[in-house]
Amino acid sequence: MRLDFLPSFVKRKGRITKNQEENLKFLSDLSIKNLKQIREEASNFSYCCLEIGFGNAEHLKFQALKNSDILFIGSEVYMSGIGTLIGAIKKHNIDNIRIFPDDIRILLDDEGGNIFDAVKILCPDPWPKERHHKRRLINNYFLRLLHKSMKDKGNLYISTDWENYAESIKKLLNDSTCFVRSEKFFLKKEHFTKFEQRGLDDGRNIFEFNYQTID
Ligand SMILES: C[S@@+](CC[C@H](N)C(=O)[O-])C[C@H]1O[C@@H](n2cnc3c(N)ncnc32)[C@H](O)[C@@H]1O
Repeated sequence: MRLDFLPSFVKRKGRITKNQEENLKFLSDLSIKNLKQIREEASNFSYCCLEIGFGNAEHLKFQALKNSDILFIGSEVYMSGIGTLIGAIKKHNIDNIRIFPDDIRILLDDEGGNIFDAVKILCPDPWPKERHHKRRLINNYFLRLLHKSMKDKGNLYISTDWENYAESIKKLLNDSTCFVRSEKFFLKKEHFTKFEQRGLDDGRNIFEFNYQTID
């Protein structure tokens, strides 16, 4: 497989609890492999929303429980987070979440057409040191990949608690010919995520970007 990008994450496995390990046995039943498969599954729902880097899955779980007409695709490389999400899916009998357990750029590199009504990226890894900025997920290449998979007027929401990353995201989006600022949100966030809250506790602000795709 052609991979034109550096890893945007530190480790995939991390520490995994016994419960998470047990839950991961169900991963193949819940995972999707490509955009074609998402398109097929999404035909049974009104909308399709992608959350990239769902972490401990609190936001994804909350939104999926509240919106049964939306198919949520959760992407995460961190196996303990995936194990936690599967535990929540089983506990609450959630049937509108599918998982892409790998680098999201592998999924988006596929040819699959305009599928997503919305994409959410909450606190992407900030890579604060300048020499690591090249590992940041959000760059021109990534925005073009995202645009290719989103519907016209699809909603892109990004948050970050790192001012320097926020400046870079703002410039990328403002210079982009694929996205334009929007006041319309696809599902408003109702709580801060774990990483947003951590940023606030450490005295940082949350910067938010709400855009929509243009043809
Ligand atoms: C800083 S955490 C934020 C987690 C969560 N969204 C929150 O706000 O609490 C960033 C997450 O993105 C995931 N991630 C990083 N690069 C990724 C990629 N290329 N594809 C999918 N997930 C990725 C990491 O594993 C990590 O869990």
